[in-house]
Amino acid sequence: MKEQLEKIRQLAEKELSECSAADVLENLRVKYLGKKGELTAILKQMGGLSAEERPVVGQLANSVRQTIEEKIAERSAALKSELAAAKLKMETIDVTLPGKKQTVGKLHPLTATLNEVKEIFLGMGFEVVEGPEVETDHYCFEALNMPKHHPARDTQDTFYINDNVVLRTQTSSVQIRTMENKKPPIRIISPGRVYRSDAVDATHSPLFHQIEGLVIDKGITMADLNGTLELLMQRLYGEDCKIRLRPHHFPYTEPSAEVDIMCFNCHGEGCPMCKNEGYIELLGAGMVHPKVLEGCGIDPEVYSGFAFGIGLERITMGRYEIKDMRLLYENDMRFLGQF
Ligand code: DAH
Repeated sequence: MKEQLEKIRQLAEKELSECSAADVLENLRVKYLGKKGELTAILKQMGGLSAEERPVVGQLANSVRQTIEEKIAERSAALKSELAAAKLKMETIDVTLPGKKQTVGKLHPLTATLNEVKEIFLGMGFEVVEGPEVETDHYCFEALNMPKHHPARDTQDTFYINDNVVLRTQTSSVQIRTMENKKPPIRIISPGRVYRSDAVDATHSPLFHQIEGLVIDKGITMADLNGTLELLMQRLYGEDCKIRLRPHHFPYTEPSAEVDIMCFNCHGEGCPMCKNEGYIELLGAGMVHPKVLEGCGIDPEVYSGFAFGIGLERITMGRYEIKDMRLLYENDMRFLGQF
């Protein structure tokens, strides 16, 4: 029995030292130390030994078990560190290699300008609301005092889904939607896409963006309109920016005005940039027409208000001195990267 035990020890030591994988190691552990293992099998036969032999063999069996356990622990630790070393080697990075350049994106000039405009109006207590781009004839024209065949529709030919559904030509439609759903006081701006069936050139595009503004309350006058727009323009173009209101006609405002800013190039003197006008036309505005208020269930004897519609492309082009509108839509990184 002693020889058997010594044989087990030798064989186990040999097999364990040759073992190079965790699952093989586990198999060896079961083979030698498991319930049905070789050592256990021998211990089971100890009943047949004499009283003198039993403690001697028992001691030897314990020592063999201990040797095997130690060897297993040793191999297991060695295997783990070998594995870790191999993994480390596989994952080494050469920190001296040049890195991959990360290009950080930035906001499109139209988005940047719109964000600024929103901030300015939020600061004055306005809310930002949205309206649908696919709009009914009613909201786009009819409710704005532009019945079918009204000549003012001529400049706003658009894409018809059917006789009564169009791609909106102006964000002014949101004025009506807002007044129908909210009681005064109202202070909103509504930015968004608008569509017209215009051919593409340096200043026209069948898709562009407007920012509508609407204020309705008791005692609102043209002076409020003037002050609001002046503040907007001074924030956008600098504190010395001056605006000018010129009489105009829109069917949904009375009186109506076109709003110009003093040319930043010549400060009103007249130069090629402002076509010798001294001023550059920026937007349309006016006092909301009593008929429009009435149509939305607001009593024009009690409330008054102003509205305006700004072309986002136009103010963006003015700020960055962009001469051709098409550049804003072509997504050429050489162009966009400059802002
Ligand atoms: N809707 C006009 C346009 O597209 C701009 C405009 C003019 C908006 C006067 C207004 C306004 O709210 O009062 O040309």
